[in-house]
Amino acid sequence: MSDSGSSILRGIGSYVPSIKVDNNELSKKVDTSDEWIRSRTGIKERRYAAEDENTSDLALKASQRAIDMAGVSPEEIDLVLVATITPDMAFPSTACLLQHKLGIPQVACFDLEAACSGFLYALDVADGMLSSGRYKCALVVGAEKLSSIMDWEDRTTCVLFGDGAGAAILTKTGKGAEMLGFQCGADGSNPSLLHQPAGGSALPASTETILARGHFLKMNGREIFKSAVRVMERASRELLSHHGIDISEVNHVIPHQANARIVESLSQRLEIPLDKFFCNLHKYGNTSAASIPIALDEAFKAEKFRKDDLGLLVAFGAGLTWSSALVRF
Ligand code: UT7
Repeated sequence: MSDSGSSILRGIGSYVPSIKVDNNELSKKVDTSDEWIRSRTGIKERRYAAEDENTSDLALKASQRAIDMAGVSPEEIDLVLVATITPDMAFPSTACLLQHKLGIPQVACFDLEAACSGFLYALDVADGMLSSGRYKCALVVGAEKLSSIMDWEDRTTCVLFGDGAGAAILTKTGKGAEMLGFQCGADGSNPSLLHQPAGGSALPASTETILARGHFLKMNGREIFKSAVRVMERASRELLSHHGIDISEVNHVIPHQANARIVESLSQRLEIPLDKFFCNLHKYGNTSAASIPIALDEAFKAEKFRKDDLGLLVAFGAGLTWSSALVRF
């Protein structure tokens, strides 16, 4: 649990690639149906990046929009953090590639890997670094090209995910939404619930790993579903209680956009009405680390937030990881 030194969310921006594929189109390629995908997940369509459009390119466009909204210049940014599980390459970091593309000075840049919880983890880390007084202006990005690790022969996973990016500018001064605090946690006891088995030091790339389709995302959806609801409820309740805030005071919930049924279960368990939850997963599917910043940006642009409204952001992902944040708009 961390109490924020009240970092200010000065700007937010997002970008989704232009290739749009709806469930009917997908069912021409995969043994599935619009009815199955919609009823089990709420997803209607998703976006895919072009072959030559990398995670850093998606991050670039989202970052430019966040920078514009914040009214800062790239020269003022002294920290770049990218949350992703689909970096352009294992190294160097996507944050370094993004720094160069944006013309940001030679400042600290690194990637953070906490899967779908990654953006809130990255905000928490950036908030701590700003609070140390050693950094003044952070660019925090969640960006994914999940289509690059999707197994088109596994219908239980490939229909769920999409590509996109969201970005935020965080400072200690200026006008914007106030980050009140964060909670991040993890349980590494069962990593194979959601993982990409091959390509790391445990199982380096080989002909066998390719033939075994080990470089694709693998998931036990049913188990992840159960854990997701449990850990998101916990991350929400613990953070609210730490800040002495009653659940009834929450005006908006921006949950990780994975499955409409997960959101409904969370709404019931937290006893927060569903109409306080912002959802756009029907348009984009699950974009992992990009899901919360894309949703936050769309809710901002749709003028969902009034001054002083309280927002709860909450996510879960591979690890298992979870994270939550409170924001005063
Ligand atoms: O960011 C974190 C990422 N992960 C998640 O959020 C995933 C969380 N889990 C889920 O969202 C759900 O578990 C899924 C959407 C993945 C699956 O829904 P489910 O209700 O748990 O379905 P299931 O896995 O129990 O499968 C039910 C049936 C199976 O057929 P049988 O064995 O009952 O005959 C599957 O083979 O649905 C079948 N099935 C499909 N049918 C058509 C699985 N995928 C598909 C598909 N199209 N794409």
